[in-house]
Amino acid sequence: MKIIITGAGGQLGKELVRLFNMEEYEIFPYSKQQVDITNRTQIKEVLEKDRPDILINTAAFTQVDLCETELEKAYLINGIGAYYLADEAREKKVKFFHISTDYVFSGDKYQPYIEEDVTDPKTIYGKSKRLGEVLALTTYENTTIIRTSWLYGHGGNNFVNTIKKLAGFSKEIRVVYDQYGCPTYTKDVGIALQKLLTKPSGIYHISNYGNCSWFEFATEIISFLNAKVSVIPVSSKEYGLKTPRPMYSVLSSKKLNSNGIFLQGWKEGLHEYLKKEADSSEY
Ligand SMILES: NC(=O)c1ccc[n+]([C@@H]2O[C@H](COP(=O)([O-])OP(=O)(O)OC[C@H]3O[C@@H](n4cnc5c(N)ncnc54)[C@H](OP(=O)(O)O)[C@@H]3O)[C@@H](O)[C@H]2O)c1
Repeated sequence: MKIIITGAGGQLGKELVRLFNMEEYEIFPYSKQQVDITNRTQIKEVLEKDRPDILINTAAFTQVDLCETELEKAYLINGIGAYYLADEAREKKVKFFHISTDYVFSGDKYQPYIEEDVTDPKTIYGKSKRLGEVLALTTYENTTIIRTSWLYGHGGNNFVNTIKKLAGFSKEIRVVYDQYGCPTYTKDVGIALQKLLTKPSGIYHISNYGNCSWFEFATEIISFLNAKVSVIPVSSKEYGLKTPRPMYSVLSSKKLNSNGIFLQGWKEGLHEYLKKEADSSEY
């Protein structure tokens, strides 16, 4: 099976390249420098050259605060970029997989979000990602949207690596206790995605099992590292984030489970990640 991966320089993209390399796939990874998803000609060229069966897009403008001030860039990459990919995939009859986010939800439901729940993004990042979902789904019926959440992966810019760094020089770390989500290891997204390649198109939620607050997440990281750092719980209000995040963006795994796909718990995923980071010079 031939697979193109766009956004291959990002944390999920890198993981997919590693993971799909081990399997029976012929992969064609493209970083932003090689294929800019806002450049339709570049997309067309690689689809014509590589003739893939599947196109997976992990590319996105993911900096939530920056999206608030760089709206056009956010809508262009996360919205129009997804449309270009879907439309070119449609022309070549290539199955399209597009990664999206828990931030398409408002976070006010306080129960795990299912795929059919009404979206109501509150941030420009969330709105631009939702635009990408809608454009891709309405452009090409052979589109699968994968929503995931609180991602961390090797070599990525993510919460786990930030806490690890802070643990190296801080005595205490303040972390928000009133926002809930599902921390998710990129490797587990990749494994589930492989299983979805042969399933019907549509929207799927992929996250590690269970949920926690950022405070609980940080506490688990510090405890695993056995670091001598105090984790101080603070409210979102006290913390004063520039861009408010959804208070509860837990994704339901029910649809994934009903398709026979089960992910490990968030703590197990985290421990596996931290162990690999400590053990291996590969990352
Ligand atoms: N990170 C999370 O917590 C999280 C949570 C839920 C969902 N997601 C979604 O998961 C997917 C993967 O996220 P990630 O964490 O791997 O993000 P990431 O590490 O920021 O990777 C995104 C990659 O896309 C590249 N990119 C940006 N603009 C591009 C363009 N115009 N053309 C091609 N590539 C471009 C980026 O390059 P530069 O860095 O050079 O700009 C980066 O390499 C995204 O769709 C994201 O929305 C992420």
